[in-house]
Amino acid sequence: MTTKTHAKARASGKVILFGEHAVVYGTNAIAAGIDRGAVASVERKPHGPSALRIGTRTVTADRDAKDDLAAAFAALLDTKPALPAMHVEARSDLPPGGGLGSSAALAVAIARAAEALEGESANDASVLERAAAWERVFHGNPSGIDATAAAKGGIFRYARADGATPIEPGADFLFCVGSTGQPSSTRTTVELIASRRERDPALVERSIAAIASIVGNAILAIEAGDHRAVGDLMNMNQHVLSGLFVSTSELEDLCAIARGAGALGAKLTGGGGGGCVIALVAPVLGPLGEHDEAKEAENADKILNAWLHAEGRYEGFATRIPAAKHAHPSKHAGENP
Ligand code: PMV
Repeated sequence: MTTKTHAKARASGKVILFGEHAVVYGTNAIAAGIDRGAVASVERKPHGPSALRIGTRTVTADRDAKDDLAAAFAALLDTKPALPAMHVEARSDLPPGGGLGSSAALAVAIARAAEALEGESANDASVLERAAAWERVFHGNPSGIDATAAAKGGIFRYARADGATPIEPGADFLFCVGSTGQPSSTRTTVELIASRRERDPALVERSIAAIASIVGNAILAIEAGDHRAVGDLMNMNQHVLSGLFVSTSELEDLCAIARGAGALGAKLTGGGGGGCVIALVAPVLGPLGEHDEAKEAENADKILNAWLHAEGRYEGFATRIPAAKHAHPSKHAGENP
């Protein structure tokens, strides 16, 4: 076995397209890896404790630390198989606490780089276990969807019991991601729903069932390349999430602005209570049914500019989920508004 002194790795951020929060209770959600993500560089140290630097913050691994980052780093390193002492530098180009899986992307990048120190390519299962241990410190009861997206990328449905199952989109889907600029604490919103469920189980169970049915229809709409249906279902999903009180006035504002600027649908993505929204950009198809990416980028710019020029000066970016290789655009995909 070769041992290395340095190693580097990356992992994707993600957007949850449908089903956040309900997925914690065992239903399906739909997520997709995005280009933005996290990178980690690892250097072997002669002895411990291991240290982690992210931006200007440096922590040493300590399971009992009050600082979540120090405790999460220790939890990641303590997961088997054992790792040598190391110094880690990591960074993410995702907004922290933005509902884009920044924490899971960091965990997966660090775990991959750390395992690569031992000279073997990182093992997917143990990388996911390490990331889950890290996420439990931050999130309390993570469904695992973030870590799975960070490790695997692509678009997939996810349930706690089955893990990830790839979805084959029938067409390209272009989304704008807009940030409220306010951090969202997934732990807080997950706990908020859990305590509401204790007080009023029927109400929360109804919302979970509604989201489960939206997700089921969304899988069919994505596979059919039916942008209009996907947009409508996003709006419905947002409605149910608002009813669970995980939306905020800024998230609602971002959704309304996007719809006003031509988005076919918009919803919060991730934990809510702050963080980001996703908005579906109207497709533009050429004569052979191919996506006119330049014209679609113009549609995306309309949404991004509307966010930027709104009172909140919301920043955003566009991200494309490509059609499955053998997909043929359906008749619905050709419905340019
Ligand atoms: O806020 P994020 O990106 O960590 O997404 C959390 C998704 C939830 O469904 C709200 C929680 C979970 O663990 O699945």
